[in-house]
Parts: sequence; structure tokens; C-alpha cells
Amino acid sequence: MPMFQFPEWTPALSVGNDEIDDQHRDFLVRIGRVSRLITDGGAQEIREAATVMVALLKIHFDTEERIFGATTYPWAQDHAVEHRVLLHFACHAKKMIDESGDHIYCRMSLRYLAQSVVEHLMDTDMGYKPYLLQGAA
Ligand SMILES: [Fe+2]
Ligand SMILES: [Fe+2]
Repeated sequence: MPMFQFPEWTPALSVGNDEIDDQHRDFLVRIGRVSRLITDGGAQEIREAATVMVALLKIHFDTEERIFGATTYPWAQDHAVEHRVLLHFACHAKKMIDESGDHIYCRMSLRYLAQSVVEHLMDTDMGYKPYLLQGAA
């Protein structure tokens, strides 16, 4: 399986809140490390990466919902539902990774999990940026 390239955090990805930006930056750094495991990771390393990813997602989603919930962001409820869907998918992927002895399956699951997180961060999360900036003004 070819090495999968994930983006690095740049100021263009800032949502205007230091706490969220720090968490997003941390995610992309971790996912950058995880991309190596997608190519040649061992079962234990992949299990650990999925466990950390799920734990961080829970914390991150709570942080975001607390922060954008205090703004006029009109899609706060939809966004929170998307978080629940993503978390459900992440928990399911983690469970399958924990139980599967198939390396290719585990690497593929980790890849889709990482891609989903990055897609959410670069697309959906950018939607609340103007409302956070409004609140900061
Ligand atoms: Fe986010
Ligand atoms: Fe989000």
C-alpha cells in the first residue's frame, strides 16, 4: 500500500481560537505519524494509535461544541451530530482493529479513520470560523 500523504497544519487552517487550533495541530502531527503505520504498522502500534485517536476525538469534540455553542453559529446542532457520527465510526473502527488479526484490514481501517478526521477538520470545522471570529471582535 503506498504511503498516504496527510496535510500539515498551517495558519490557513486556523479557526481563530487558540485552544481549537492547538488540538487541530496536534491531530495533524499525530496523523502524520499514523500515516507510516498505514503502510507498515504492526498490530500493537495500530491498536495504540486508534485508541489515542478515539480518546482525543472525544476531548476535541467536547471542546469545539463548548466553544461554538457560545456563538451564533447556525449549524451548531448539525455539526454536533456529525461529531457523534464520526465518533461512532471511530469507536467501531477501533473495536474492529482491536479484534481483527488481519493487518491489511487494520491498516485500511486506520487510514479511513484518519482521512475522515482530516476531512472533517479541513471542511466542516472551517464553517464555524467566521462565527468564532465575530465573537472575538
Ligand atoms: Fe475540529
Ligand atoms: Fe468539528
